[in-house]
Amino acid sequence: NKTLNLIQEKLSAGRLPQWVKYDPEIFELEIEKIFSKTWCFLAHESELKEHGSYVTRYIGNDPILVTRTKTGEIKAFLNSCTHRGAKLCTADYGNSKNLTCPYHGWTFNPDGELIGVTAGNRIYGEEMVKDEWALRPVPKLDRYAGLIFGNLDSNASSLDEYLGELKWYLDILVSRTDGGMEVLGAPQRWVVNTNWKVTAENFCADSYHALTSHRSTVEMGISPDFVSQAGFGYQLSLNNGHGLNLVLTPPGVEGPKYQGLPEELWPMFERNLNPDQLQFLENLQVHVGNCFPNLSWVSIPQSTGGDSITTFLNMRVWRPIGPDSIEICSWVMIDKEANEEYKKEASRAYIISFGPGGTLEEDDTEIWTRITESSKAVMARNKDLSYDNVLNYLMGIDRVMPIENFPGPGKAYPTWLLDTAIRNFWEQWLKMLQEN
Ligand code: FES
Ligand code: FE
Repeated sequence: NKTLNLIQEKLSAGRLPQWVKYDPEIFELEIEKIFSKTWCFLAHESELKEHGSYVTRYIGNDPILVTRTKTGEIKAFLNSCTHRGAKLCTADYGNSKNLTCPYHGWTFNPDGELIGVTAGNRIYGEEMVKDEWALRPVPKLDRYAGLIFGNLDSNASSLDEYLGELKWYLDILVSRTDGGMEVLGAPQRWVVNTNWKVTAENFCADSYHALTSHRSTVEMGISPDFVSQAGFGYQLSLNNGHGLNLVLTPPGVEGPKYQGLPEELWPMFERNLNPDQLQFLENLQVHVGNCFPNLSWVSIPQSTGGDSITTFLNMRVWRPIGPDSIEICSWVMIDKEANEEYKKEASRAYIISFGPGGTLEEDDTEIWTRITESSKAVMARNKDLSYDNVLNYLMGIDRVMPIENFPGPGKAYPTWLLDTAIRNFWEQWLKMLQEN
């Protein structure tokens, strides 16, 4: 508690002890106080097209099985057999009427019901009540605009309430067309030696790094020009620790209308968004943010060669494996009604920029792992109070004030060169760690 109080004191002064980016005790506390109590992203409904479709995911450390049932319902269970606890489904995704446990062969249907027991009657007797041995459901499961979230806390407030102010901004991406979004292919997964908060704060609101880390992609004409337009747009600091940056095209500068998304979608944008949301989309370059704790996204136009510019939506979960390890699970999405050619190009644009070997991804990964390298070593872990072992989160503090009468909810700031939304992320993190 003394430790948390110290963090609180530093954070309110725009500083953060570096050891919070590694500390194993803090990591354990995060699993207990954050990942077992918040809404965590599991899947997009387009990944579960028909009866028997399933995907396997995680909430914190808990392996989760998400299924589509006969009646079209989506369900989620602990991916652990009720017999001895073996991992029931070991595939990433698939379609199967039933799932059979690899250990002793118990079989469950997509509703989670135990429907078959190897040599059942002979060993457990006719009277075995199979109903008692159904898979254990995730306590809370809900959807927003096709995005499926689970919560391990049965007393949690609703997903709608949790997303809160973020919905208005998320809608610009996921609710703008009649059919919503569609996941292209299966998500990619890879492990990176860093801490989940390092990556979450980067997407939440650290577009500052694009001026340096991603400068070469601007110089080559692959990415939008964040450099000469530095800071033009807004930063949003939202309830429950959510945050995002809207990078916009400044007036007088030529930029692709509606991020260069296919024209057949434009009438839908006009139909589904309100005039304020529509105006943001019209001038949007990059929409990047983080839904607390660990769901991030970026919507960014990328050149795939020549003059062609293609925009995709990349959503990603930073799954915490340990204090110095995450697994990135990364989806590429596009509006369901976009033409097939555009979808193919969007996949390509994602792969070469934000896929595991993408140019922008490589820029970031290198930095993230080095942050962890120093955060887990001796000097950065020094908790001696006489040694001011902190990092700088001061950008804009007490200097840049929220805009009055901004059309969207939450606190909006007139530039994205700010640490305000990142401090909001860390404040929510601390608040949850302090809760009993
Ligand atoms: Fe699954 Fe025994 S652990 S059948
Ligand atoms: Fe980056």
